[in-house]
Parts: sequence; C-alpha cells; structure tokens
Amino acid sequence: MTVNISEITPVPSLFSPVFLGKIELANRIVMAPITRVRAGSSGIPGDLMVEYYRQRASVGMIITEGTYPDHASQGYVGEPGIATGEQAAGWQRVFEAVHAEGGRIVLQIMHAGRGTHPDINGGRRVLAPSAIAIDNKTFTEKGDQPYPVPEAMTTAEIRAALEDFVTAARRAIEAGADGVEIHGANGYLLQEFLSPAANQRTDEYGGSPQNRARFVVEVVTAVAQAVGAERVGLRISPEVDLGDVFETDRDDVLATYGTLMDQLRPLGLAYLSVLHAEPGGDLVQELRRRFDGKLIVNSGPFGGQTTREQALHQIEADHADAVVVGRALIANPDLVERWQGGHPENEPRPELFYGPGAEGYTDYPFLEAA
Ligand SMILES: Cc1cc2nc3c(=O)[nH]c(=O)nc-3n(C[C@H](O)[C@H](O)[C@H](O)COP(=O)(O)O)c2cc1C
Repeated sequence: MTVNISEITPVPSLFSPVFLGKIELANRIVMAPITRVRAGSSGIPGDLMVEYYRQRASVGMIITEGTYPDHASQGYVGEPGIATGEQAAGWQRVFEAVHAEGGRIVLQIMHAGRGTHPDINGGRRVLAPSAIAIDNKTFTEKGDQPYPVPEAMTTAEIRAALEDFVTAARRAIEAGADGVEIHGANGYLLQEFLSPAANQRTDEYGGSPQNRARFVVEVVTAVAQAVGAERVGLRISPEVDLGDVFETDRDDVLATYGTLMDQLRPLGLAYLSVLHAEPGGDLVQELRRRFDGKLIVNSGPFGGQTTREQALHQIEADHADAVVVGRALIANPDLVERWQGGHPENEPRPELFYGPGAEGYTDYPFLEAA
C-alpha cells in the first residue's frame, strides 16, 4: 500500500499553531516590529501604547517596536526604552494587556549604533564599529539633520553594549515578555558590525567574515545564557540596503551570515527572523538550513506591503514557519480574522505612521465597525 505523506502529516497553514522555542503561537501571523514613536520624551510606554498592542493581540505573536537598551542607543525621538525600571514597568502593562487577550509578545531590543544623533539620544555620544557616518539625514528634536560621524567603539565599549543588551533582556523577561528579539537588521549597530562598509576595524571585531560576525554571536549568546535561548530570537536583513550597510557582494554575505548561523545553531534559539526580498530564494533558505531552527520571514519594503496571498504562499510553499507582517497590521488590528475570512482591509495612512497621537494608531476600525 502506498501512503500519501500529506494524508498523515497535515500541511501547516497560516492559521495553524506553531511553537517558536517555548512560545506557543495560535497562528503563524507575526506582527512585525514597527517603530511608532508614541512613547514621549520619557520613553515609557503609556495608555496609548497599551491599547495599540492590546488591539493586535490576536496575531500569533507580536514583536514590539525597536526599543533602546540604554539611552545612548536611542534611534528615534519618541522611541520607547527599556533602559530604566520605569520604562520596564510601562512595558509590563503592555505585556499584561496582550496576555489578558490570550496573545504572545516579545520585545525587540534595538541599539541604533550610528543611526542616531545627539539631538535624539539626549546629547550622548554616538558609537559604532568605525567612524563612518551614514550619508543621509535623520529627524531630530531640532528638525532634520545629517547623521553625525560616530566614534569607533573601544573594546570596553563593545563589552558595555553587550551588557546593555543582556540587562535589557532580563528586564523584559522580568516584566513578563514571552521573549526578546535582538535587532540585527536594518543597518543598526549589529548589522553595522556585520557590514564590510560600516565596519572597517582592524581588531578581532573587523576584517574577515568571522570577525565581523563576532559581536552578533557574542550578544546573542550572552542574552541566550541570561534569559534562555528558547526565549530569544534574532532579526537579520542580509542585502537590505538600509543605513548604508551596502551588503552587495553575495559571496561575502553568505560567508558572513553563514558563519553567524553556524555559531548560533548550537544555542537552540526560539527563532531566526529574516527580512529579504526573496524569502524562498537561495540565500535565505541556505541560512535556514545552517540555522536549523524556526524561521520567520518578511519580504520587506520592496514593492508594496505584505499581502494575504504572499503570506499564505510563504507557509504553503514552506519558505518559513511563520510570516512577519507590518503595515497591514498597522491598519487592521483584527487582521487575522480578516485574512481568515477573506474580508476587506483598511488602508494604512503612512503620514500617521510616526506621530504623537491616537490618530492613525488606535483608531483603525475593527471588522464589525468597518
Ligand atoms: C513605520 C515603520 C516602522 C518600522 N520599524 C521597525 C523597527 O522598529 N524594527 C524593525 O526591525 N523593523 C521595522 N520596520 C520594518 C518592518 O518590520 C517590516 O519589515 C516592513 O514594514 C515590511 O513589512 P510589510 O510589507 O509587511 O509592512 C518598520 C517599518 C515601518 C513601515
């Protein structure tokens, strides 16, 4: 008798549950980390942020917006932090609200590296692997200004940044987060170390792919040791050209991210999140093999936001274990219900992505009210 494997092994669907490490997701739609700058100058999540995340708790898992581990690493005016007990207490209210709705939530820890300015981080120094500025402007408390030339980090400063990630992760877990995501993507500090354009160090943190991957390996390993690998994810964005990282040499990308995967594999992390134009392509699938754990993907800001059809396809084609969705979830707090039923969607209002208030944040209508 021939047995069709599909009869005994149900093909996972976007709406089926999955475990990422210790975190049990009711479905495979994961809310992308999305900076919304509603935390004010204190960086403490308040009622508005509690409501925003509570509204979106029906996704399999929420990844919070990028959150600074210490004040110098703040990358945006209005970004939340987890640098203090008060900020952690604000996050605790968010986590409790999401859990009360049956949701799961992990905190994205983001060190902006050279992607900040003294008029964003409270007049503090701007640190990066090398003293090379991003050739662009950023929005500061005094309007748009060019990115400053950062100071190249000393070995002691590299160690201190690692400790900040660990402390932030501990605070997040103590405050009730289901896990933490280390932000290794989008041109911020960790990707600056990986990038041959941003990292021109001549010590053990620069030069070869192994050396450029070293800091990311050390940070992820230290955080995993501190809070448990099954609660830790890492986001990467190989070849995504944000913040002048210029990862244009495929061989170098494969060597750098490949050695990163080889060294992370034994840790048994909860998940790897990859932002790349082709989640089903050779590069991402090779990294998936070498990581040998759960993969969640986002095809990024390359020609429109993630659609229902794309998300269904990523899972059905087994390109990933879950799909990370950004802008559709900004506009549709009940996106899971809409995608499951094939209902119409609200359109996002990009002009309100960043801003202080409830408009374009917590006022998108739910299905019954739409
Ligand atoms: C307003 C906005 C803010 C974002 N903030 C973050 C962030 O804090 N951390 C991060 O890793 N990615 C961030 N991203 C990238 C998103 O996580 C996601 O990769 C991107 O929106 C593409 O997915 P989509 O097409 O589903 O929206 C942001 C994107 C947008 C539009």
